[in-house]
Amino acid sequence: MARPHIEFVQAQALPWETGVLPGAAGELQCKRLSMDSETGACSVLLRYPAGWQRAGLVHLAAAYEFFVLDGELEINGQIYGLDCYGYLPAGFNFRSTTSRAGAVVLAFFDAHPSPTLGQGEMAEDPNLAAVPYVNLHDLPWSTEGIDPDVSRGRYMAHKRLRHNPATGDTTFVLEGGAHSHAEGWQEKELRHPCVEEMYLLSGDITGPQGVIRGGGYFWRPPDIWHGPFVSRMGYLGVFRFLGGHHVNIWSEEKRTSSLNPQYNPILPDELKAIAAKPVEIPNPF
Ligand SMILES: [Fe+2]
Repeated sequence: MARPHIEFVQAQALPWETGVLPGAAGELQCKRLSMDSETGACSVLLRYPAGWQRAGLVHLAAAYEFFVLDGELEINGQIYGLDCYGYLPAGFNFRSTTSRAGAVVLAFFDAHPSPTLGQGEMAEDPNLAAVPYVNLHDLPWSTEGIDPDVSRGRYMAHKRLRHNPATGDTTFVLEGGAHSHAEGWQEKELRHPCVEEMYLLSGDITGPQGVIRGGGYFWRPPDIWHGPFVSRMGYLGVFRFLGGHHVNIWSEEKRTSSLNPQYNPILPDELKAIAAKPVEIPNPF
């Protein structure tokens, strides 16, 4: 089944599990954010223990797209530290993977990541080319291409990490300023003809489903009305648009927003008990 609408769950509420991924990655502790039960595509948090290492040529049946949240990971001699990103397409040859100090990685697989020993072949499609290594701290912030109807009256900037012009698939980090809301706390809702996915790294995004904090995650299928969103302290998140091109379609009617909505997440049955109550995030006092 295609991935269900999740909006939203805090990763802090999810259990660490093993055996979620196939092969050697099955040893790694994993938090399942969302998973497509037909294709095996999934978004997960992976925890590499200190001293983890795997050598020997292996390739996966899925692209491995990842963002380092904590610690440090090494793949084929490339060190990925804090806030580093990579997109390694299906067929990429992993010769060695190690984590000397341990790592927690936000990982996206676009199919079941079954491993095969030996040499792999990556597709020749340039739109699926590897993004071998990006350190986010080396990329400048940009406001280019942000819909002025979305950013009106608020600070927003992004860093694009990957874009497939054929499919529209896009990955970027988005930074939004504190005290973000529309004039009069009234704004139209939005929808897009593609999936929107987000993992919040820090700050808050507040909308009709509640206050999303660092560690908050949503998977929103295409054409679901959402928002309006506001932010009290600002935010930084990893976003993806998938399975179509990102277009903003606005509702006719405006909706009122506030900084303290009820907790009312949209959850599939398997997450209802886990996310029955909002996760308590320590206050800064
Ligand atoms: Fe959206």
